[in-house]
Amino acid sequence: METCVIRVDRENPDIEKIKIAAEIIKNGGLVAFPTETVYGLGANTLNGEAVMKIFKVKNRPPDNPLINHIDSKEWLYKLAEEVPEEAITLADAFWPGPLTMIFKKKDIVPDVVTGGLKTTSMRMPDNKIALNLIKYSECPIAAPSANLSGKPSPTTAEHVIHDLYGKIDCIIDGGKTDIGVESTVIDLTVDPPLLLRPGGVTYEMLKDFIEIKIHPAAEAMIKFKGKPESPGMKYRHYAPKADMILVEGEINKMIKKIQEIYEENKGKKIGIIATEETKKFYTGNIKIIGSRRNMRTVATNLFKILREFDREGMDLIISEGFSTEGIGLAVMNRLRKAAKTVIKA
Ligand code: TXA
Ligand code: MG
Repeated sequence: METCVIRVDRENPDIEKIKIAAEIIKNGGLVAFPTETVYGLGANTLNGEAVMKIFKVKNRPPDNPLINHIDSKEWLYKLAEEVPEEAITLADAFWPGPLTMIFKKKDIVPDVVTGGLKTTSMRMPDNKIALNLIKYSECPIAAPSANLSGKPSPTTAEHVIHDLYGKIDCIIDGGKTDIGVESTVIDLTVDPPLLLRPGGVTYEMLKDFIEIKIHPAAEAMIKFKGKPESPGMKYRHYAPKADMILVEGEINKMIKKIQEIYEENKGKKIGIIATEETKKFYTGNIKIIGSRRNMRTVATNLFKILREFDREGMDLIISEGFSTEGIGLAVMNRLRKAAKTVIKA
């Protein structure tokens, strides 16, 4: 299949170009597009056959539901059977933005979108390209991250091209995404609401507005054994090709442990994920993920670095761990899921 790549300025988007992509969505095609979190692979939510193609192309397990991307609150009432008061409070506070909310679904949402569940999720992305694409497609856009299933999510159009070129109709290149990790997913169909996946809107931000609990799997401390509330929880995620060891713990012990692992594995191609503050303690192939003083910089670079190490053909990636405060919880959730081994220093 021929894939068109359209370059659009995300601050000042050329509407005529977005209309070309919107036409593809309207005709049942697949378009990859930027959001503020990661790139999404979109189809018309209301067209079950189009949505089915997303699962095929990504090789995504059919029971893993998709998020509906909407450009106005009106879609909430069209797709959700019940819209609790908390949802409006949170939408007013965080939309457009990286917050996905789960509702009881109406029949209009095809089963393929929800993986057979009776619930469906929605978010309004904070990106002008995404919002205009939804607007001119005149439908909600069902979209998972635009990567092959199991791989790190794409934060640039190049990442999407690498995974999906030739397999989808169109890729809108809107530059690097800001946040770098996927949206926060919360379930509003349970009492109290549950945080299922940590993301750009943090637990601390949410609990200023509503009572909410963190699902144990959101911490990704142990391989989750119970019934997963979110089907996405049970699958391997974000995994680079290389084996990855994540070292957690007090900073000085962590550095020492990483130095030891590096020495023990000499002879292998090793990549180290370090920070501005700690880079001086290591030798070899080091990548700076960001600054510990601003964890948003760490989130923004995480998937990019995993993909870079893959391209360089590393045998082993050793990563530092971080505090789970604020967006740190989202970072640690992704690192723990990507790692083959997690070590407490
Ligand atoms: O930031 C994001 O959320 C990106 C951009 C493109 O918007 N999208 C994204 O989609 O990360 P995806 O499909 O990679 O992750 C969606 C997650 C999955 O873990 C899925 O299981 C969960 O949301 N999810 C979606 N609908 C659900 C539902 N009805 N019940 C439980 N979990 C749901
Ligand atoms: Mg994904």
